Amino acid sequence: MKPRIQKIFQNLSPAPDALVFANAVDPHLDQTFFYVFDVPAGLFEGSVAIAHPDGKLDILTASLEAETAREAAKRDPNVEVHVIGRDETDAEAKRILGGATTIGLNYRELTHEWFLRLERAFDDAKWVDASNAIRRARVTKDPNEIQLLRKAAEIGSKVGREIPGLLKAGMTELELAAEMEYRMNRFGASGRSFSTIVAFGPHSAEPHYSPAETKLKAGDSIVCDFGAYYRRYASDITRSYHFGRRDDEMKRVHETVEAAQKAALEAIRPGVPAKEVHLAAQRVIDASPWKGRLTHGVGHSIGLVVHDGWAYAGTAEDPLEVGMAITVEPGIYLPGHGGVRIEDDVVVTKTGYEFLTTAPREYIEVAA
Ligand code: GLY
Ligand code: MN
Repeated sequence: MKPRIQKIFQNLSPAPDALVFANAVDPHLDQTFFYVFDVPAGLFEGSVAIAHPDGKLDILTASLEAETAREAAKRDPNVEVHVIGRDETDAEAKRILGGATTIGLNYRELTHEWFLRLERAFDDAKWVDASNAIRRARVTKDPNEIQLLRKAAEIGSKVGREIPGLLKAGMTELELAAEMEYRMNRFGASGRSFSTIVAFGPHSAEPHYSPAETKLKAGDSIVCDFGAYYRRYASDITRSYHFGRRDDEMKRVHETVEAAQKAALEAIRPGVPAKEVHLAAQRVIDASPWKGRLTHGVGHSIGLVVHDGWAYAGTAEDPLEVGMAITVEPGIYLPGHGGVRIEDDVVVTKTGYEFLTTAPREYIEVAA
């Protein structure tokens, strides 16, 4: 992935002689390894990627993923795969890096153990923190990444459309989460991109709730926040539903969140500080009877992981850029009563934004 490697180097001044991405054990894998090495399958625990300023890439990996790595390398003439024993990794890295004196590392993802190991192997190296350069490169997506994000989002949207038909009185949050995850895989996902949130009744007022044994009953609000992985790229979608007759308050809450999301989306344009997107949603909510009940930032970047290194709230000065893939997810939370969140994934375009997720967002009351 020569252009991606060069994009990272362009963000570093002065540029180091090489960049090293070292994976520990899942989940401590640096997704930048998969950003520079486009390999659709495999875990690559313990593997190392060495990226050079000319866009060349050396992959040091064990026999577990040898064939997968070699197949991927056939599609990219800039990649050389070295299949080695685990205890040969440091020596092989030394051989490849030769006289490199400044080495860039992803400080945000490298484990401390790996750092100590690299320090021992390269005792006179000068380390450069490349994490901001990596984040900057990864935050705007290329067309191939957008295509994969779109597929992941389509899977989420398909499940979102099916949820109303899955709701049954007496089912537990975990049962609904299982039905959703089963469908994601049936629709082509390799798995969920984060722990599925299904929250019934008062639990829906807690944005990062974990599903449990609570049973669905008439009058409950429901928040479902979930996402699929498609060829390593994540989606993140939230839809809120109402089971049986809800009080009018929750209907109005839902309509307010919809209006807040529309206002936030309308603020999206390249060059606009990201805080404007958040503040547009917050203004709508703060002008409603539920002032102050938006309790989190309105979005984050999405990519190889669901929270892809950058998030925005009311103070984020970072300007939006064409190709950024972000979520827009306002919510209103009424502790002890219920909550509503509506979340979509969008890509910033020259003139505004394009939806990746498409499931209906409006108030849906499912007969109990
Ligand atoms: N999908 C959960 C979150 O964005 O926090
Ligand atoms: Mn999200």
